[in-house]
Amino acid sequence: EESKKVQLIEDDTLPAAIKAKILNLEPYRGKRVRIFGWVHRLRSQKDIIFLVLRDGTGYLQTILSGVPAQTYAALTLTLESTVELVGTLQPTPEGKTAPGGHELVVDFWRTIGAAPGGDDAFTNRLNEKSDPSILADLRHLVLRGENASSVLRLRSATLSAFRATYAEQHLLEVTPPCLVQTQVEGGATLFKLNYYGQPAFLTQSSQLYLETCLPSLGDVFCVQESFRAENSHTRRHLSEYTHLEAELAFITFDDLMNHIEAIICEVVDKLWKNESTAALIQQLNPSFAPPARPFMRLTYVDAIAWLNEHGIEHEAEDAQGNVITDAEGKPKMVPHVVGDDIAEAAERKMTDAIGTPIFLHSFPAGLKAFYMKKVPGNGGGDQPAAIALTESCDLLMPGVGEIVGGSMRISDIDELLEGYKREGIDPAPYYWFTDQRKYGTCEHGGYGLGIERFLAWLAKRYTIRECTLYPRWPGRATP
Ligand code: 4AD
Repeated sequence: EESKKVQLIEDDTLPAAIKAKILNLEPYRGKRVRIFGWVHRLRSQKDIIFLVLRDGTGYLQTILSGVPAQTYAALTLTLESTVELVGTLQPTPEGKTAPGGHELVVDFWRTIGAAPGGDDAFTNRLNEKSDPSILADLRHLVLRGENASSVLRLRSATLSAFRATYAEQHLLEVTPPCLVQTQVEGGATLFKLNYYGQPAFLTQSSQLYLETCLPSLGDVFCVQESFRAENSHTRRHLSEYTHLEAELAFITFDDLMNHIEAIICEVVDKLWKNESTAALIQQLNPSFAPPARPFMRLTYVDAIAWLNEHGIEHEAEDAQGNVITDAEGKPKMVPHVVGDDIAEAAERKMTDAIGTPIFLHSFPAGLKAFYMKKVPGNGGGDQPAAIALTESCDLLMPGVGEIVGGSMRISDIDELLEGYKREGIDPAPYYWFTDQRKYGTCEHGGYGLGIERFLAWLAKRYTIRECTLYPRWPGRATP
């Protein structure tokens, strides 16, 4: 009752306060500032309230004492309420630390939007031990946490670093469409939709469009959403992900792998040299160190041998692709043979055992898409698709596995028409892609990198679901 009587009025004899964001406070030390934000942390000690304010650009330690700590609003203040704080910015006292090295001594403040207390209080809504599906429903609130928001900050810096690196290497950014009528990575993972009465899909990859840009724009890249209707509930599959793809003309397979390695290392270097992004990486992944160059290169055939030497087996499947189980329902495990797809589990075990980035390359054509160029001579040409090797590469990173998939592309028109046939693709809707081989073909290649997988590696996240704003996976498109 007493507290209701305590009134706080802004003292207009004090110097005018400068409106500022937390990120840019340093020049205002010793001055009076006005800051808006959310109550991130709250603690009272005797008659003093210690409040950590969050405004999206950073965190600020603030101190309310005297009348500002005695009002009804002060005594009923809750986490995640929005407030306006006015006060003098002081360097943190000797022996204490605070974000930015300063703290705000508040002389006037007010609540803008009070968040509920009691049962509906923020900390009751968002219990970190909650069921993962509840946390997924509450992603909009989870994002207010320090780790979740740091991952998104790092994501933003990562996209900027890729763009800057491509600009330095003279690759031009283009924006291909998401609504398409051709497939790139196989019909099984297409999201189909009705497009004004015609069949259409959400894009799986912008690769074919990038290839059409080479004659007009030279080497190109894009940052575009890709969609995969994969019924995979793994920690590295999303139904929608951000796909960074690039395409380069007049290169060899070796040039392609060198380029991918150079881009990744340059991006890591940029992030690691920048004080604020290095701090984010260290916060999320304290043991991070930039990878050594050159990256290890391992052929698919040697990888199969490596798996067998190390006793890493895979689940046996019948002709229909169903896992074969024993009497107790346990999957039957069998050694790998050339021609097998190296599944996620085996790939992870190998990558984690080796512990460094690995270029796994030269996969059999039977495991890969219709557009991939065969290895000249050895393994290519007339060999059956299951064994003919392609100029293809996946970049595998410890903790995640594949983060990049790339290849050289078929440059010969007859070989391309053969590829459509092998995969049962009607060439008619691909006329524009086929025309590239007709009007001045060239040796070329490219790759796609999943931004969320790159971040899961860099920030050591258990699942790539943490590496995107609002993740989509089978059954989930909310929030
Ligand atoms: O290996 P993928 O399927 O290759 C392509 O789409 C090529 N057309 C790219 C190109 O050459 N331009 O996918 C490339 C990368 C993978 O290495 C992985 O990082 C990511 O895309 N990716 C996924 N990320 C999250 N969820 C999924 N379901 C993904 N599928 C692929």
